[in-house]
Amino acid sequence: MNAKRTILITGGAGFIGSHVVRLFVNKYPDYRIINLDKLTYAGNLANLKDIEDKPNYAFVKGDICDYEGVREIIARNRVDGIIHLAAESHVDRSIKDPFLFARTNVLGTLTLLQVAREYWEPVGWEGKRFYHISTDEVYGSLEFDGSLFTEETKYQPHSPYSAAKASSDHFVRAYHDTYGMPTLVTNCSNNYGPYQFPEKLIPLFINNIRHRKPLPVYGKGENVRDWLYVEDHARAIDLIFHEGRVAETYNIGGSNEWRNIDLIRLTIRTTDRLLGRPEGVDEDLITFVTDRKGHDLRYAIDSSKLERELGWRPSLQFEEGIEKTVRWYLDNQEWLDNVTSGDYQKYYEDMYKGRG
Ligand code: NAD
Ligand code: TYD
Repeated sequence: MNAKRTILITGGAGFIGSHVVRLFVNKYPDYRIINLDKLTYAGNLANLKDIEDKPNYAFVKGDICDYEGVREIIARNRVDGIIHLAAESHVDRSIKDPFLFARTNVLGTLTLLQVAREYWEPVGWEGKRFYHISTDEVYGSLEFDGSLFTEETKYQPHSPYSAAKASSDHFVRAYHDTYGMPTLVTNCSNNYGPYQFPEKLIPLFINNIRHRKPLPVYGKGENVRDWLYVEDHARAIDLIFHEGRVAETYNIGGSNEWRNIDLIRLTIRTTDRLLGRPEGVDEDLITFVTDRKGHDLRYAIDSSKLERELGWRPSLQFEEGIEKTVRWYLDNQEWLDNVTSGDYQKYYEDMYKGRG
């Protein structure tokens, strides 16, 4: 096809990536969307079943750390935009295997940047875009004092995951400042919604409630996160990719802070209701376990820059978003069973062994 733009989306078979791929493939039939994904435990082509046959979509199985492989994809397809989501994304795994996080998140990002530079620099930066998707966790942790992360908050990552993401953010900005690459970075708060791998809090707990399995709450459940529905994040990514100012950083958040224990109780009540059980009956599954090492107390985002400059706002109330999410996981038990079969069961058992 003679595409208006060719965009490489990395990590498109993962949770957020699959929503971004779906949005772009459906909304821009005159773009060619290439999804590069290694299909780690977190990547599943089943997340994209509904769009896999579209003529403007192609999937390539590959590793962002594979320099030659990435070069071949970018050159052969004349890629002019990159939206980079591929990463190792789970804090608990980063505590067990920090090197994997440095490899994928730091060296993988650097590989993409360098290949894009080698391909784009000689022909000129005009019309090119390297958009890096990052997290609010790079800013570290807030106290319970009402303060918010802004784009000016200094980087103070605590976990190997956030340290690796912080490093990759710095490399992206360095490629702008040193070579003039048109880059963008966004730092988003916790996402929730369909297709999230069930090792993360919300899908893990919905699945456990359904099967009446213990709900492992770290520490006292007092940590606070700012939750954003994943389709609202995808919508922000679309807007920023097209209209964001080059070299800028935008924070994206839900303005929706929840203490873990309150969110867990809401998830239990919603799941019970949708399963036809008495609301709250499964609260006895709550099991307080040893806290996560270095557990950040509170994340909360100030997204006023994005709201002011580009008019973006979250669209869903949390109660509505949680209900949609619970319903999706209950209706898609087969998807859950497929992604948690194999190695994952052993990982999960090892993870919680002796933590109770
Ligand atoms: P995810 O773990 O669900 O998906 C990651 C995807 O990357 C998977 O499809 C995996 O197969 C792929 N991948 C991993 N290593 C790869 C490699 N070496 N080469 C190619 N592909 C590889 O992650 P997610 O939750 O969708 O997060 C996507 C991005 O958004 C990440 O960069 C993450 O840091 C960022 N982010 C996530 C959240 C959140 O709440 N989930 C919030 C803010 C930012
Ligand atoms: P998570 O979904 O892993 O996201 P992140 O660590 O990136 O914020 O966890 C969200 C919150 O829930 C975090 O404070 C850790 C807590 N949590 C639990 O209490 N129990 C669990 O089993 C998990 C996975 C997370």
